[in-house]
Amino acid sequence: MTPGLVIAVDGPAASGKGAVAARLGQAYGLPVLDTGLLYRAVGVAASRVGADPDDPAAAAAVAGRIDLMALDDPAFRTREAGELASRVAVHPGVRAALNAAQVGFARRAGGAVLDGRDIGTVIAPWAPAKLFVTARPEVRAERRWRQLVGQGEGVTLAEVLEDIRRRDARDGGRADAPLARAPDAVLLDTSEMTIDLAADAARRIVEAARANRA
Ligand code: C5P
Repeated sequence: MTPGLVIAVDGPAASGKGAVAARLGQAYGLPVLDTGLLYRAVGVAASRVGADPDDPAAAAAVAGRIDLMALDDPAFRTREAGELASRVAVHPGVRAALNAAQVGFARRAGGAVLDGRDIGTVIAPWAPAKLFVTARPEVRAERRWRQLVGQGEGVTLAEVLEDIRRRDARDGGRADAPLARAPDAVLLDTSEMTIDLAADAARRIVEAARANRA
C-alpha cells in the first residue's frame, strides 16, 4: 500500500478511464470508486419511483435517499442508466447530495483512486496524480457498443455513437462541474491503445507525478 496516494481519473464515456482506474487500483493496492455509478444509481432510482430526472428538486430528493453502498446492481450498467445518469447529473442539488461520499472516499487515510468527470477539478483538486483519459468518439462508441451487445442489449453502433455525442455535449456543457481537464491533469489518449498499453501509460504518468512531488 502506498500511503496517501490519491489518483484522479477523469474523462468522457467509454474513454477507458474505468479500466485504467481499476488497473491503477490493483497496481498500487488502492480502493477504487467509479463515481459514474453514483449518478447511474440516482438515475435508475428516479425512474423506478416515477420521478422526473429533469426536475431538479425531484432528482435531488432521490439523490438524498439512495444507498451509496449498493452500487453493484446490473441495471446501473445499461444504456438507459447512462443516459439517465447524465440527465440527473446536471442538477447542482444532485451533485451536492453525492459530494460528501466522494470527498470522504478521496480522503481515506490509505489513499484511493476515483474515476469520473470532475474528480480532478471539484472532488479532489488537491490530488497529487491526475489523468484525463480520452479517445476519439468513434472508438469510444465501438467499445461501448461491444460492451452493451455483450450484456444482451439490442442497439446499433450508430445509436451508441449518437448517445456518446449527446452525453459529451451535456456533460461538457452543464454549468455545474462540467466535464473538463484540470490544468494539471495529464492527457492520455487511448484511441490506439489496448487496455494493457493504456494501463502501462497511466502507471508511468502516476510515477512521474509522484516523482515531481517528492
Ligand atoms: O462514467 P459513466 O458513464 O458511468 O457516468 C455516467 C454519467 O454520470 C456521465 O455521463 C455524467 O453525466 C455523470 N457523472 C458526473 N460526474 C462524475 C461521474 C459521472 O457527472 N464524477
